[in-house]
Amino acid sequence: EPLSGAYYGTTPIYYVNAEPHIGHAYTTIVADVVSRYQRIAGRDTFFLTGTDEHGDKIVRAAEKAGMSPKAYADKVSGLFRSLWPKLNISNDDFIRTTDSDHMACVQRILDKVNDSGDIYFSEYTGLYCFGCERFYAERELENGKCPDHQTVPEEIRESNYFFRMSRYQDWLIDHIRKNPEFIRPERFRNEVLSFLKEPLEDLCISRPKSRLTWGITLPFDENYVTYVWFDALINYVSALDYPEGERFRRFWPVAQHFIAKDILKPHGIYWPCMLKAAGIEPFQHLNVHGWWQVSSGKMSKSLGNVVRPLDLVDIYGLDAFRYFLLREMVFGLDSEFSEEALVGRLNADLANDLGNLVSRSLTMARKYFKGEIPDPAESHPEDEALRKSALDLIDTYADCMDSMVFHKALRAIWEGIGRLNKYIDTMAPWVLAKSDPERLATVMHHVVEPLRIISGLLWPFMPETAEKLQGYLGLSDRGRDLTLDRLKDWGGKATTGPLGKAVDLFPRVEPGGEKKPAADKGGQKKSAPTRAEKAPAGDDLLSFQAFQDMDLRVGTVIRAEDLVDSKKLLRLTVDIGEERTVVAGLKGHYEPGDLVGRQVIVVANLKPAKLLGVESRGMVLAAEDEAGIHLLAPDVQTAVGSKVR
Ligand code: MSP
Repeated sequence: EPLSGAYYGTTPIYYVNAEPHIGHAYTTIVADVVSRYQRIAGRDTFFLTGTDEHGDKIVRAAEKAGMSPKAYADKVSGLFRSLWPKLNISNDDFIRTTDSDHMACVQRILDKVNDSGDIYFSEYTGLYCFGCERFYAERELENGKCPDHQTVPEEIRESNYFFRMSRYQDWLIDHIRKNPEFIRPERFRNEVLSFLKEPLEDLCISRPKSRLTWGITLPFDENYVTYVWFDALINYVSALDYPEGERFRRFWPVAQHFIAKDILKPHGIYWPCMLKAAGIEPFQHLNVHGWWQVSSGKMSKSLGNVVRPLDLVDIYGLDAFRYFLLREMVFGLDSEFSEEALVGRLNADLANDLGNLVSRSLTMARKYFKGEIPDPAESHPEDEALRKSALDLIDTYADCMDSMVFHKALRAIWEGIGRLNKYIDTMAPWVLAKSDPERLATVMHHVVEPLRIISGLLWPFMPETAEKLQGYLGLSDRGRDLTLDRLKDWGGKATTGPLGKAVDLFPRVEPGGEKKPAADKGGQKKSAPTRAEKAPAGDDLLSFQAFQDMDLRVGTVIRAEDLVDSKKLLRLTVDIGEERTVVAGLKGHYEPGDLVGRQVIVVANLKPAKLLGVESRGMVLAAEDEAGIHLLAPDVQTAVGSKVR
């Protein structure tokens, strides 16, 4: 739906009883990606995160650490606060529930709700889970145990204050029905609606000080502190200086919360009812995602299967980490975390597809035009098609981002990268460089403009990489200044300076983080190994015999056909003294017709392999650089079947 000119996004405020792990990092990065997206969509944005510091849980963790709750909360809150800049989180504020403004705001809201008759005092006996810090109804337990902690809750009898949440049940059902996107994706909306089919119980919102003192004192009874959820949820408005704040006026109507499904109930039920009781409009969207799991369990401190974000960032780099989290998880579903999958994506999507595209494009722009591409001449239909698809990509992307399907937004960008790589292969600028400089300028123009668009769309996900790329492209608008509107301004020359040299954006890596040796780099070649580089030692050296064992022969191509089902492969018939069928990945680099009659070098004693149903008996040798693939051949016509030594 159309948003107004403002956007407000929040993460959960994290408990300070444990160090941050990738679960916390994920929600915060998602909220960061969306905030950055909203900025380039031209909206005034406010992005909030923080820490939740009151309650039993924190007291117990502090005791264990031999510290006072306050000193302990200061320490762990500090860990979160200092982690976020390292993950390039662009939050506008960091709230702590121990901030005095927040505490005063909670008391104000409690007074207001109490004055309107929605709070009452009553004796209560119930089953209490200390891990969750809440009472459980029998029917919510699994085999008598807390479903989250798998512990038997304790029976506690005490007098407490209750929030008349039951009053708002019908209103809430109605609100959710009328606003289908209030809780999204849909599965979580359904989950809340199905929970609301049962009568809603009132919420116990106090803890007697005899049991817990680490909390916000109830303004109407100093023998009690506020239940931690009633305290914590209010952070979303206290940070905006509710009620008088200008921020509150501007940003509250466009509030979006990001959480994982573990805290759906407080956010989907308690919070809207609290807001209603306090006379505050409901938030706009609750965006709920699934869990990152490790070996099929939720990650948690008690299970000892925690993945620490900074360890991964140190090894693989921040943007690869951010990209992976957003590309791999379908927002709303659980995902299994695996380092192998991260490495796979880094090498395939980042090093190969994106890294290669950037490096070959910039290399050609510098080589052919010293980085200053002249004005384009008349464009061909292929150029027009590319331009249209690049501009359409901006809209597709915006749709995906507005509806929280980040993996699809990224997939769309990568399809754009694929189209651009293919356009380069087909247009073969290296051929035009020799024959048609005017056409070359037009083609290179159509290479650079989509790259500019891609850099802008990548910025929310990978701010550092995108800004680097924008620097190479000589753009004067970078980062948040390169808005979606500006991206649509195809060929807006004013913003473009000379193109720079690309450094290796994403070196390929092995799991565990070892960089692959240059010779092994597939498409992404930086520099060939030089003599100065240390020769591999001992076992890594090829024996002379091993080289001798290779049967390399000169051949002449006598037929070349397109393998219609393949994007890459051509089928060659090569005469090496006998006829050999060789399936080679030359499509897009050579026209089949141009190959007939050419001499090639064939590896003749390779084990046959079936490719798309065709048996290939040998390989042809080729060199590869940024400009593409180049077949090797003897430099004068040579008798077929001659051995290469
Ligand atoms: N303090 C409460 C939230 C109060 S908000 C008013 C809390 N804190 S928490 O530290 O436990 O954080 C829970 C949140 O951390 C989840 O909702 C989610 O955003 C994130 N994650 C923690 N572990 C996670 C996974 N394993 N996977 C994905 N996200 C998870 O609850």
